[in-house]
Amino acid sequence: MKQIIAPVLSNEEIMPGVHLLWAEAPQIAGAAQPGQFVMVRTSEDHDPLLRRPLSIHRVVENGALALLFEVVGRGTDWLAQRKAGERLDLLGPLGRGFDVHSQKLLLVAGGIGIAPLIFLAEKAAADGRHVTVLTGAKTADKVYPFNNLTPGILAVEITTEDGSLGKQGMVTDLLADRDHVVDLTAVDADYLTGPDQIFACGQLAMYEAMASIDWLKDKSVQVSMEARMGCGFGGCAGCAIETKRGLKLVCQDGPIFELTDLIR
Ligand SMILES: Cc1cc2nc3c(=O)[nH]c(=O)nc-3n(C[C@H](O)[C@H](O)[C@H](O)COP(=O)(O)OP(=O)(O)OC[C@H]3O[C@@H](n4cnc5c(N)ncnc54)[C@H](O)[C@@H]3O)c2cc1C
Ligand code: FES
Repeated sequence: MKQIIAPVLSNEEIMPGVHLLWAEAPQIAGAAQPGQFVMVRTSEDHDPLLRRPLSIHRVVENGALALLFEVVGRGTDWLAQRKAGERLDLLGPLGRGFDVHSQKLLLVAGGIGIAPLIFLAEKAAADGRHVTVLTGAKTADKVYPFNNLTPGILAVEITTEDGSLGKQGMVTDLLADRDHVVDLTAVDADYLTGPDQIFACGQLAMYEAMASIDWLKDKSVQVSMEARMGCGFGGCAGCAIETKRGLKLVCQDGPIFELTDLIR
């Protein structure tokens, strides 16, 4: 874990209310694993006092690191206003990332939950693994712009709640109904039967829906958990959650957990 001052390279609103911020942070980018996060100081004074946790969204070889964040309150609003050349105070990489040990991966993103999964997808694809991403958003303008990634490395299926892009419904509908697979345009339509490991990031309701899907019960499913955080590295116990293995700290024991340890 390092505390660094990272120059902002760019900061752009890429979807309504969602920013993509690139910063020069080689000390963190070089050590980061998919699923890990940084604690970002979101003020020049001490208000708000607490840093905000954000997943590492992407890293590139020159040491740049990307954050993808939704503006929901004071901290993220401050961050959204940062301009190229300004400096960010970052602490990281923090937490336990995804444990990848198979060839065929299925990634499931709900809304801004796509943030940590792109880093996972890019690294896994670069390592020669087969990656399919299912992503759900409320409307078409909130669907992550996959076309900015290296072309052709991922098979992507999209749902929107209003049907304005992809299948109408929730992303978990793609998992629940194996029969609709004949309609899919995915390069690899056997993703529902084939994946060795499943990785998800979204709201608790999405995880509850996944826990109720029969065929997922035999699979390794890792999910990224959220909690309000004080320190980000195990010092305050502010992020403790109950799991089937007792109380765990989201910042240190997670944020990645086995779904079966949380729900079922
Ligand atoms: C490990 C981790 C990784 C995260 N990665 C991302 C990411 O990549 N992109 C992203 O957009 N967000 C991410 N979040 C959530 C992000 O940390 C919060 O949205 C952010 O801290 C809000 O700060 P704020 O000052 O803007 O909002 P606040 O003014 O603090 O709060 C605004 C609203 O957001 C809710 N909220 C704030 N923090 C959290 C939280 N941690 N969990 C649940 N609800 C919260 C509050 O209850 C309130 O309703 C992550 C959270 C964790 C724990
Ligand atoms: S945020 Fe302080 S212990 Fe987890």
